[in-house]
Amino acid sequence: MKKDIISMLDVKDDLKQIIDNAIEMKKGNYEKIMKGRTMAMIFEKSSTRTRVSFEVAMEKLGGHALFLGKNDIQLGRGESIQDTAMVLSRYVDVIMYRAYSHENMKELAKHASVPVINGLDDKEHPCQVMADLMTIKEKKGRLKGLTMVYFGDGNNNMAHSLILGCAIAGMKIRIVAPRAFWPEEYYIEEARKLGGEVEVEEIGEDSAREADVVVTDTWVSMGDEAEKEERLRIFKGYTVDEKIMAQAKEDAIFMHCLPAYYGYEVTKEVAYGKQSVIFDEAENRMWAQMAIIKWLFE
Ligand code: CP
Ligand code: NVA
Repeated sequence: MKKDIISMLDVKDDLKQIIDNAIEMKKGNYEKIMKGRTMAMIFEKSSTRTRVSFEVAMEKLGGHALFLGKNDIQLGRGESIQDTAMVLSRYVDVIMYRAYSHENMKELAKHASVPVINGLDDKEHPCQVMADLMTIKEKKGRLKGLTMVYFGDGNNNMAHSLILGCAIAGMKIRIVAPRAFWPEEYYIEEARKLGGEVEVEEIGEDSAREADVVVTDTWVSMGDEAEKEERLRIFKGYTVDEKIMAQAKEDAIFMHCLPAYYGYEVTKEVAYGKQSVIFDEAENRMWAQMAIIKWLFE
């Protein structure tokens, strides 16, 4: 059966291997395993990191990537996801899809005869979280037993994939979010089934206690633009600043998948401060994805 990466759950048995491979590949130890192979990359939403890192990753592995903006292909004019999947599967070896809807992501994977990689949808962002875990392992030397504290929109793709990713990696996660933006119960349940320790709370005086890793993400994800004003009002007080970082462990690192909106979810002082690893995290998208591709084609 072909492998897909739609959710962090799809890599739960091999996450450690993927992360260790990514760290190894970053040292220059990789072969051109994608020689003669092509990746189609369908984008319904904007992207800097996902687009460029996948394209360069494919080139480094000896393969080729095709950028397909939704409005450049017939999908944007109403061709079905099923037909898009069935046609692309005749030309390419793997499809990366950035979608508005997780349902559409699953539909594409169902009808594609080649592997499908989730390059972000409304529910999950697994490629980012694999790069994040790789970055934590690089910085801390381990994952098991560490505590992550995530501030802000607890109901978005990053929060959900981090909840699953931490559970798989043996890390504890605390989601600090306004009650209306707590994670979907499904992700907490799945994490707990894997033995994950998940806490969810509203912001307090010591929300970042015991944190080895402090994380945030935009308060207004792609697709949420109509709610922007309301969200900015509700999330006020959740900005990761130096006061929050001071509650965490002294050697805590700060992470953000980017793009960041400074002065909202994080201050510039923290994002560019000495605890921040955001640009290593961005770079690691490429190495983690090379390891993901290797895993799919092994
Ligand atoms: N972090 C991330 O996925 O960034 P892009 O939207 O630029 O791809
Ligand atoms: N939660 C953000 C992540 C961007 C990479 C969004 O979906 O817009």
